[in-house]
Amino acid sequence: MSNIVIIGATSAIAERAARRFAERGDALYLVARRADKLAPIAEDLKVRGASQAGTHTMDADDLDAHGAMLDAAVDALGVIDQVLVAYGTLPDQQACEADPASAVAAWHTNAVSPIALVTAIANRLEAQGHGLIAVIGSVAGDRGRASNYVYGSAKAGLAAFLDGLRHRLADTDIDILTIKPGLVDTPMTAEIDKGPLFADAERVGRDIVTAMDKRRAEIYTPGFWRLIMAIIRMVPRPVFHRTKL
Ligand SMILES: NC(=O)c1ccc[n+]([C@@H]2O[C@H](COP(=O)([O-])OP(=O)(O)OC[C@H]3O[C@@H](n4cnc5c(N)ncnc54)[C@H](OP(=O)(O)O)[C@@H]3O)[C@@H](O)[C@H]2O)c1
Repeated sequence: MSNIVIIGATSAIAERAARRFAERGDALYLVARRADKLAPIAEDLKVRGASQAGTHTMDADDLDAHGAMLDAAVDALGVIDQVLVAYGTLPDQQACEADPASAVAAWHTNAVSPIALVTAIANRLEAQGHGLIAVIGSVAGDRGRASNYVYGSAKAGLAAFLDGLRHRLADTDIDILTIKPGLVDTPMTAEIDKGPLFADAERVGRDIVTAMDKRRAEIYTPGFWRLIMAIIRMVPRPVFHRTKL
């Protein structure tokens, strides 16, 4: 049994992972910005077998709120064994191009906030001597593309940060997992036409739990995205610029 904090616990992907934790009796501490959405999820996870499902409301954009949330999680769980950082927003790329403030806001939620939060978590786990931090990035961070480079660049910055943190903690008993989903059918992608490359949240949630159990450093989910992104990264720039990716 593990003590697991999930930040962004109303995310469709996080909820699917949380159900698997609950079914094996893990103790959960669920953090999200909307109490009304979070309460029924916590109740459901208790029914599914979670030994605890405490809740905490926090807008992750408010960096000053992170410390109190972590204090509350420690009060509830005692020791934090694992953390899943799942929140994020998919900004309107064209709005970000038109308005620098929109681009900065997208970066705040998808890069600045998780970097601040994971820094605080890592320091606590380092003091405690063990733990796992899993963070949901995106395949979009693997190469900047015209269609979503503000979001993609934030996820790229986050991935590089996690690489460095993993390097810093390499000699410790603290593991860092970078999760790179491809296209997933969740509320985040509600406006996007669904094609064969879309996975369901159940599949991605399952892959996340498996990777956390195995203490992996990085996963693509579904796994075929590793090959797709390797190819996309290799396309020469003049050819790439003739595409509409
Ligand atoms: N869906 C995809 O195709 C896809 C692909 C690659 C990566 N991802 C990543 O997967 C993660 C989960 O997304 P999802 O697909 O599960 O979509 P989702 O169901 O829309 O979940 C997004 C979550 O982020 C939360 N959130 C956004 N801003 C927040 C803030 N300032 N403070 C606290 N919570 C905030 C949302 O809270 P509310 O419930 O209050 O809105 C929601 O729970 C995200 O990091 C996303 O970037 C998704």
